[in-house]
Amino acid sequence: MYLGIDVGTTATKAILVDESQRTLARATRDYATSRPGPGISEQDPALWIEALQSVLTSLRQAQPEAFAAVRALGFSGQMHSLVTLDADHQVVRPAILWNDSRGAEQCTSMAARVPGLAEISGVVPMTSFTAAKLLWMRDNEPKHYDRIAHVMLAKDYVRLWLTGEIASDMSDAGGTQLFDQARRQWSPAILNGLGIDPGWMPPLMEGYQIAGRLRPAIAGALGLRAGIPLACGGADVGTGAIGLGCAAPGSGFISLGTGVVYFVAQDRYAPKPDLVLHNFAHCTPGWYQMAAMLNGASALAWASKLTGAADIGALLAKVEARYAGPSSVMFLPYLSGERTPHGDGDLRGAFLGLSPATDPIDIAQAVIEGVAFSIRQADDLLTEAGSPCPVPGLIGGGAQSLFWCRILATLLGRDLARYDEADLGPSLGAARLAMIGESGVDIALIAKPPEKVEAVRPLAEQAEAYQHRFETFKAMFPAVASYASLSRPNGD
Ligand code: XUL
Repeated sequence: MYLGIDVGTTATKAILVDESQRTLARATRDYATSRPGPGISEQDPALWIEALQSVLTSLRQAQPEAFAAVRALGFSGQMHSLVTLDADHQVVRPAILWNDSRGAEQCTSMAARVPGLAEISGVVPMTSFTAAKLLWMRDNEPKHYDRIAHVMLAKDYVRLWLTGEIASDMSDAGGTQLFDQARRQWSPAILNGLGIDPGWMPPLMEGYQIAGRLRPAIAGALGLRAGIPLACGGADVGTGAIGLGCAAPGSGFISLGTGVVYFVAQDRYAPKPDLVLHNFAHCTPGWYQMAAMLNGASALAWASKLTGAADIGALLAKVEARYAGPSSVMFLPYLSGERTPHGDGDLRGAFLGLSPATDPIDIAQAVIEGVAFSIRQADDLLTEAGSPCPVPGLIGGGAQSLFWCRILATLLGRDLARYDEADLGPSLGAARLAMIGESGVDIALIAKPPEKVEAVRPLAEQAEAYQHRFETFKAMFPAVASYASLSRPNGD
């Protein structure tokens, strides 16, 4: 038996699997994010520990015998979120989450201070990454900053509570912008250039390596055996990939969640920061190329709220029922700014082609098409970067709509694979890392794609029309970029 624990942004999820990877039980515990002002997104790490205890209790109640026989635990976690501890391992301040955007000013000065920053760290500076958060703390909370003795990521904090040992893995380190992706180590050039103490950074290992053993002091209360090994685990994008069997080069997936992640595994480091792609270390030896878009199913949720539609599924059903080809309304989906391909947190969305006849169904169709256009743009960039993904798997809440998936397949011009049970991804990946670490079995034998796969076919008769609309989508971008520049103090 193995446990996989995913310390996500909105919840901690855990699964209990047996030696043949059958899911015996699963549990989720939600938590809130504190958003007391513009750009702020924080969580108290104590919430993660409470959630961990809650999900472990649920699994134990569901499967008492199997739970007691757990041989190892593995972890997955929200990426980039900054956890700072003092010398006594006490939390200095609430974690600053990946979607906190307060470090914009720090991002602008970072590249000048570290020649080659984007080449070394695999991505251009953006507020999502840990480095910007740490520098924001230095500039705005010097009293807190002066207490820092350890910097870590969300899943590392949870594992520290369970083992007493500090560690992180290559994939979470890879998302900090403080890491040398090619050498798979903390980057002296970046840390020195930014004035960050290298002694704060945790020792690094691969995601399946054993980072510690369960403390006897808490094992009894949790109902687990003292001393069982805990694999280091990985960042949720990497563990999600392992959960879907994406370890071999060219295998990949599109997660159509709140935001969109388009992941392709690679066997080499080949950064393309100029395309605003993210080239990060995987949680198993190797790397991945990723396009990360901030506006996915969240844009549809916004549109359904805006139009007063109570139920997103019902709204999509109406779009499908009336569908006769691409919408006459076009949507540029940059409601929350955008990462790939624009790297601009100030961008905002736009509709074009509105008329007195435009109704909520048109708006909803334009929104799902706008998100699909941005994924098509990412697909083109990944191909340009030398990391094409022949058959991306589709996961995430948005992938529940076959209609949306078919529009996406039409824009990408090929069959896509829709997976069942894909929401287990990161926690299953975490359990798989535990299996590999504890038993030494080969990754390729364990990290298999889900069995239930449905081929999503393009709408062949609409291909040309969508291609035409896609060209218009790209041509409209300068207008939103120039509009965003009006909101900046120096107007650039
Ligand atoms: C990836 C990213 C998000 C987080 C969520 O770069 O910002 O997908 O991984 O945890």
